[in-house]
Amino acid sequence: MDGANHSVVSEFVFLGLSNSWEIQLVLFVFSSMFYVASMMGNSLIVLTVTSDPHLHSPMYFLLANLSFIDLGVSSVTSPKMIYDVFRKRKVISFGGCIVQIFFIHVIGGVEMVLLIAMAFDRYVAICKPLHYLTIMSPRMCISFLVSAWVVGLIHSVVQLAFVVNLPFCGPNVLDSFYCDLPRFIKLACTDTYWLEFMVTANSGFISAGFFFILIISYIVIMVSVQKHSSAGLSKALSTLSAHITVVVLFFGPWIFFCTWPSPSIHLDKFLGIFDAVLTPFLNPIIYTFRNQEMKVAMRRVCNQLISYRKIS
Ligand SMILES: *[C@@H]1O[C@H](CO)[C@@H](O)[C@H](O)[C@H]1NC(C)=O
Repeated sequence: MDGANHSVVSEFVFLGLSNSWEIQLVLFVFSSMFYVASMMGNSLIVLTVTSDPHLHSPMYFLLANLSFIDLGVSSVTSPKMIYDVFRKRKVISFGGCIVQIFFIHVIGGVEMVLLIAMAFDRYVAICKPLHYLTIMSPRMCISFLVSAWVVGLIHSVVQLAFVVNLPFCGPNVLDSFYCDLPRFIKLACTDTYWLEFMVTANSGFISAGFFFILIISYIVIMVSVQKHSSAGLSKALSTLSAHITVVVLFFGPWIFFCTWPSPSIHLDKFLGIFDAVLTPFLNPIIYTFRNQEMKVAMRRVCNQLISYRKIS
């Protein structure tokens, strides 16, 4: 690096997903629809669970917290992406980029621990039903929540500590629609090989670790249910299917990407859209789809909201 024309990068430019007008239009329409739908669906779940005393149980509290986090998932990257779709120059400030990276990693960490808490909750409910309320006490729920946020924050701060002092002197073009940490690091004007390795390993080990814990806990649940009765297994499977679907949706794109033989750039950008837009939209649907209790409570809240609007 010679210091002569050494300009400091103050903003980054996104290439976005596509230059084709048709694809941009499709992206714009679908992302906006899914964004609005997931904000509404997840808000409705949080509102329903907090306002309905019938739903004041650990399972629903965890579900409401997951929906709360999903409100964050949909808001970190997609509003900016939707706003940028038709723009020729999609820019984000250096600070904006750091903020995106920070929240993406906090939220990812919190969501993983919440998924584990939900698996543990189902394990206790199915395998130790008599002790459910003593094991999943309010104190236990709060501990899960606190550890979820602590894990998310520590993970994110560690990731940022690696990169916050990197020198950027151009180029400043990110081939993505958000500040993706590995791509961001590649733009630094220094040797980033080890840094990329550390950051990828940090995220990779954590997600792989959590994924295995989740898979193993669901296998343990099913094996112990089957020992008791095979009729119980099908009943447990129908309760667990929603949880397992969400876990697969959360980790599926990553695993697909990591095991895909020739990583094509476009593929991982489109998987990014899947994570940012589709997953937070699907979670509320999956959890409420076969849950009669939840549907009834939601209908009640909707009716209350409507009659409240009529009065005021
Ligand atoms: C998260 O869970 C806690 C306790 O388990 C509960 O008090 C709180 O209302 C939940 N948060 C949301 C947003 O539902």
